[in-house]
Formats: sequence, C-alpha cells, structure tokens
Amino acid sequence: MGTYVVTGATRGIGLAVAELLHERGHDLVLAGRNAEALAELEKRLPGSSSLVVDLRAPEGIEPAVAGLGPLPSLDGLVHSAGAIELGEIAKTPYQVWQDLLAVNLVAVAELTRVLLPALRAARGHVVFVNSGSGLRAKPEWGAYAASKHGLRALADALREEEHANGIRVTSVYLGRVATEMQRKIHEYEGSEFDPSKYIEPRTVALAVLAALETPRDAEVTEVTVRPGV
Ligand SMILES: NC(=O)c1ccc[n+]([C@@H]2O[C@H](COP(=O)([O-])OP(=O)(O)OC[C@H]3O[C@@H](n4cnc5c(N)ncnc54)[C@H](OP(=O)(O)O)[C@@H]3O)[C@@H](O)[C@H]2O)c1
Repeated sequence: MGTYVVTGATRGIGLAVAELLHERGHDLVLAGRNAEALAELEKRLPGSSSLVVDLRAPEGIEPAVAGLGPLPSLDGLVHSAGAIELGEIAKTPYQVWQDLLAVNLVAVAELTRVLLPALRAARGHVVFVNSGSGLRAKPEWGAYAASKHGLRALADALREEEHANGIRVTSVYLGRVATEMQRKIHEYEGSEFDPSKYIEPRTVALAVLAALETPRDAEVTEVTVRPGV
C-alpha cells in the first residue's frame, strides 16, 4: 500500500478523497489549517498523520513538512484545498487576490516543490483539483479563474518537467460539486442551494482514484467531471 498527502482534507472533495484512499488501505498525511479537525480525522482514519499549515502563508509549508519527520517516498499528492471569492475586478481589493493566489496556486507550487524528492523516489502521482474556471473566465469570477488558470499552467509545466522522473500529473476540471464552497457561491448568486443538483464529493473522489489507479503504461493528464443527468 502507498502513502498519499491530501490537502483540503477537512471537508468537501479533499475529505472524500482521503476517505476513499483510506478505504483502499493507503497511509495518509492529512493537510489542513485546523489542527483540531485534523486530530479528529486522524482518529477516524487510523494510519494517518496531520500536516498543519495555513496555505495563505506558503512560507510555512517547508517547516511544516520538515516537522513531519522523514518522508522518504510518497506515492501521491492530491491538491484539493481551495478558496473562492467572487466579485467584479473593480470591487476586488488586492488582499483578496493575494489570498486566492496564495491558497489556490502559490502554496500548491510550494508544497509540490517540497515534496518532489519523495514523489520522485516513488515515481508518484500529483493530482490538481481544478475547475471549469481554470479553462474559462467569466465576469465576477476573475480572481478565482486567474488562480485556477495558473494552476493549469503549473500542472502542465510540472508534467513535462517530471515525466523523465516517472511522475504522473493529472488536472481534474470540475463542474459544480455539492460542498460548502458551492453553498458560498449560491449565497453570492442569491440562489437556493440544492445539493442534489450537483456532483457528490465522493463521485469526484472516484474519478481521482481512477486516475491514480490507472496502470503505469498510461497517464490520465486531464479529466473533466460535470454534473450528470
Ligand atoms: N465545489 C465545487 O463546486 C467546485 C467546483 C470546481 C472546483 N472546485 C475545487 O475543488 C477543490 C475542493 O473544493 P471543495 O468544494 O471541497 O471546497 P470546500 O468544501 O470549501 O473545502 C475547501 C478545503 O480547502 C481548505 N482550505 C481553504 N483555505 C485554506 C487555507 N488557507 N489553508 C489550508 N486549507 C484551506 C478547507 O479547509 P478548512 O476546513 O480549514 O476551511 C477545506 O478543507 C478546490 O480546489 C475548489 O476550487 C470545487
């Protein structure tokens, strides 16, 4: 069985991915900013440990990973943590840009960089949970879309750079998923949130696992998952 780091493990899609990896028998490093929530989750998912770091401050990542102790090899890294703020660019202060780019892009690059030696050792797999906003930018979604466009570029460059080291890279472009993030989007849009209309986090987790479990003669580079009918 392998070892996987999952960010955003405290809820939503990251939690569903962590649960599914645990069911498959893997060891987990659960990354999040809420130490108490992570400690509770560790009890529910025996064999896991916590990486406590607030991704708005990417400079904290390297010391936090060092605090885990030796991590000689890592089979996979699933970047699911993400933040969203919506609004016209004319009304978006720079601090919102800073925070969204930090959480959705800069911290993702930094955590990947810090874990690359362990990923190379295992010929591991990096999954970036992206969005339709990583492919198209709509009005009022500018800052979030910019961060997710950047995430796409990060994934594409990493794939090319690390191919020779045996690392596989997958971007997952999601439509609307029934999580707290989607509830927040509905609040902004002024519409009622009906989770039954959207993808369940566990269904996204199954798509992520399908990419991770694809035999090594192939690499699932991109997956688009949209609400079904
Ligand atoms: N839901 C959708 O419709 C949708 C659609 C397309 C793409 N996505 C993407 O899917 C990913 C997962 O989103 P979700 O829907 O599962 O959202 P969610 O339920 O809001 O969960 C977000 C996760 O990110 C963590 N996080 C946020 N800010 C953080 C920070 N500063 N430091 C550390 N962790 C932080 C949260 O931790 P806390 O528990 O501590 O807040 C939580 O675990 C995101 O990358 C999102 O952009 C979602």
